[in-house]
Amino acid sequence: MQRTLWVTVALILPLILSATIVKAGYDIKAPISASPGGETTQPTRGKNSFSLPAANINRDQLRIFFFGNKLFNTNWVIAPASVKTLDGLGPTFNRVSCSGCHLRDGRGQPPTKKGGEFLSMLVRLSVPGAAEHGGPNPHPIYGDQLNDRSIPSVPAEGKVMIETTEISGQFADGTPYSLLRPEYHFSDLAFGPLGPDIMISPRVAPAVIGLGLLEAISEEDLKAIADPKDVDDDGISGRLNHVWDQGKKAMRIGRFGWKSNAASLLHQNAAAAFGDIGLTSNLFPEQNCPEGQDACRNAPIGNAPELSDEFLDKMTLYTQTLAVPIRRHVDEPDVVAGESLFRDIGCASCHIPTFVTGKHPALPILSNQTIHPFTDLLLHDMGDDLADGRTDFVATGKEWRTAPLWGIGLVEAVNKHSRFLHDGRARSIEEAILWHGGEAKNAKDSYRSLDALERGQLLAFLNSL
Ligand code: HEC
Ligand code: HEC
Repeated sequence: MQRTLWVTVALILPLILSATIVKAGYDIKAPISASPGGETTQPTRGKNSFSLPAANINRDQLRIFFFGNKLFNTNWVIAPASVKTLDGLGPTFNRVSCSGCHLRDGRGQPPTKKGGEFLSMLVRLSVPGAAEHGGPNPHPIYGDQLNDRSIPSVPAEGKVMIETTEISGQFADGTPYSLLRPEYHFSDLAFGPLGPDIMISPRVAPAVIGLGLLEAISEEDLKAIADPKDVDDDGISGRLNHVWDQGKKAMRIGRFGWKSNAASLLHQNAAAAFGDIGLTSNLFPEQNCPEGQDACRNAPIGNAPELSDEFLDKMTLYTQTLAVPIRRHVDEPDVVAGESLFRDIGCASCHIPTFVTGKHPALPILSNQTIHPFTDLLLHDMGDDLADGRTDFVATGKEWRTAPLWGIGLVEAVNKHSRFLHDGRARSIEEAILWHGGEAKNAKDSYRSLDALERGQLLAFLNSL
């Protein structure tokens, strides 16, 4: 009698537990399928592997997707131009198109030549204190981002150069490795020095795949996995960022950007159009010209706003529905072994493999999908080596959002480079792991203690994503 009772409990308990886990929408132990984007997943297509629409997109949405794609690739021009809807570039800016940085919807990199100019990354700026709504406090003259380009008759703000020093280390088995530590130098500053209080955050453009699915993860799930006080005592304390959303005009949980510093794709895209290209919108109606930049403030402007609501919405659907490509080689023994190592040495504690999305507010095709983004969207202290020292809403100068890992095995095919981390300092996936510190130091040390075969297996798994 007693025995049957225990057997019953033993049988039922896992069912109850798994039921609660599924309800929670995330599951660290669930098997990882070949389709990281659920029903939105697309086959790979060489260098265009990041550029396909969600596989389950409907006909009306597809039409908007194609228009959004055009806007994403448009070279904006100086106002006034003959095509009124596509003018308004600058006065100061970084690139003339979204795809200038997010080439083929993929990721940016640091300059490839020593002293080369920034082509697909930017530098955020701020000074101590907080702006309205608790965000970073812009530099009084240069604003919150260095715009290294400008239209004629308006000065560009300045230039940045990277210098690197090589540092060397070795794995537990004695194999040596080297890493490049970047240092940033400003020149041609149009309005004088940045001053001693300046805080800088150099960031490469991330790939823009699967973002609507990340937007569809429920707030409840993110709150449930956040562990700010490390109650479970695993050395890992993920924190939510809380940021101002200019679309909703409210504080919301951050999900996008290297510090989860944007809550929605609408806000992110409007902020990119404004900060990176110089386009006003109904979310950011004033020209991007800080006080004291008179030539910028007096420059001709395009339509008000330069980016219409209609175009912003279409661009947003585009970034919501870019598909995640299918995984490759999932059944190869090295990939399977690598997946176990990924969980065993603690990578999966932050790079959470599986979520079930909640309801996407606008696009039902993104709702209730089982996805494998390999992120918790939370902020983690990654140690001094990766710190930028610049706060961003709740994020400290040492905290970064766990980077999603879906698609990383295809970066080389799409972007012809393999630079990783927020500033692109890592020259390979392996170097990205070796830079991990802070809450991820244990996982990094475990990786360093693996033998060459196991390291190869873990990398084979990451390359299958
Ligand atoms: C100068 C280079 C540059 C240009 C031009 C640019 N971006 Fe970005 N983009 C970035 C960087 C850098 C980030 C990370 C921002 C951060 O961490 O604050 C980013 C982040 C994003 C994200 C969030 C990705 C994620 O994983 O969280 C989206 C979406 C995005 N950009 C869309 C756009 C759109 C739309 C445009 C054109 C209107 C655009 N970007 C233009 C550099 C650029
Ligand atoms: C404590 C949380 C945490 C743990 C544990 C962790 N990571 Fe990360 N990982 C991050 C964060 C945060 C970033 C972004 C850091 C940055 O850009 O400076 C990141 C970035 C990466 C990147 C680069 C992604 C990109 O888009 O540039 C790779 C690859 C990666 N992690 C793999 C791993 C592997 C493999 C492990 C296990 C050995 C691991 N991580 C353990 C939090 C973690």
